[in-house]
Amino acid sequence: MIRTKIAGVGHYVPENVVTNHDLEKLMDTSDAWIQERTGIKERRWALPGSDDNPSVMGTRASQMAMKNAGIEADEIDFIIFATLSPDYYFPGPGVMVQDQLGIKEIGALDVRNQCSGFIYGLSVADQFIRTGTYKNILLIGSELHSGGLDKTTRGRGVSVIFGDGAGAVVLQPTQEEGKGVLTTHLHSEGKHAKELALLGPSTSHWVPEIIEKNDPDDLSYYPYMNGNFVFKHAVTRFGEVIGEALQATGYQTSDIDLLIPHQANLRISQYLQQKMGLKEDQVFNNIQKYGNTTAASIPIALSEALQEGKLKNGDLLCLAAFGSGFTWGSTLIRW
Ligand code: UT7
Repeated sequence: MIRTKIAGVGHYVPENVVTNHDLEKLMDTSDAWIQERTGIKERRWALPGSDDNPSVMGTRASQMAMKNAGIEADEIDFIIFATLSPDYYFPGPGVMVQDQLGIKEIGALDVRNQCSGFIYGLSVADQFIRTGTYKNILLIGSELHSGGLDKTTRGRGVSVIFGDGAGAVVLQPTQEEGKGVLTTHLHSEGKHAKELALLGPSTSHWVPEIIEKNDPDDLSYYPYMNGNFVFKHAVTRFGEVIGEALQATGYQTSDIDLLIPHQANLRISQYLQQKMGLKEDQVFNNIQKYGNTTAASIPIALSEALQEGKLKNGDLLCLAAFGSGFTWGSTLIRW
């Protein structure tokens, strides 16, 4: 039986570290508030004028993933790029990675599922690999949030949470007994689309309209989050969708060796850990260093978990995400 394996993982984050104390100078916030509510101590924000845009960061993460997989760029036969912060409104950044890596004219797909983008992309890649369509898929999650945040007290409920960075994996077929992606599960609930969203500029809020109105109270071009509402849905959906993956494969919570949840909030991860009865070292978190990097958070965390020796051959790995849309998803992978 052909399954999909993660053959190589990589990540890249901008050099510029922004601590909670740095944010205290920009807005009415405190290190204590941010740490207590989110667990975040610092995040990376690309310096204005640097070349750390989503496609370039994605390309750098991909180079590390390909090196770890032991393959060259010209062996990649499909690209999937998940982001909510593309370089341009169009085209999507997948084609830019194709160009930056100098790969022949392979397909490049852009995924728009925010925090769940990596799981959605993995699920799509899994179908292509299991049907034998592609042999080396590059799956990237990359985000540049810092340029578009409201860094005043008005925007503090959102801006202290989000960070920049990229993660990437190389996906390949495997016939090794029991190994690889065992199951994937995807969901959405569009009635909550506006609870965590950036509504403009878009076809609903055209740029000429925004310029014409010149309304300082028009916040449509900043991300909006109904934090409490999102939090409550997140803890429920994470639990549900992990349960769904366990049920589909016949495993129990206790069989999971490592859970890497999307890094939305350390409190969400800790709640999940307690509810599922997992030990602290069975759940990997690095939100403390990077904040919430949306589609990039799972591959960055996976890359660091591997570097720290947290994932061994034969381990059962669970990835799960929840975010804007709402969208959520999970996967179980035998490493
Ligand atoms: O990745 C996608 C999924 N995202 C999530 O899952 C995020 C889910 N939500 C959350 O993580 C939390 O709701 C937040 C961390 C965003 C907010 O925490 P909260 O405990 O829900 O705080 P809150 O929004 O209820 O605000 C509590 C108070 C408010 O003041 P008042 O009205 O009680 O006087 C806020 O104005 O904290 C205030 N506040 C802040 N104070 C200092 C909000 N942001 C800040 C801040 N610094 N940065």
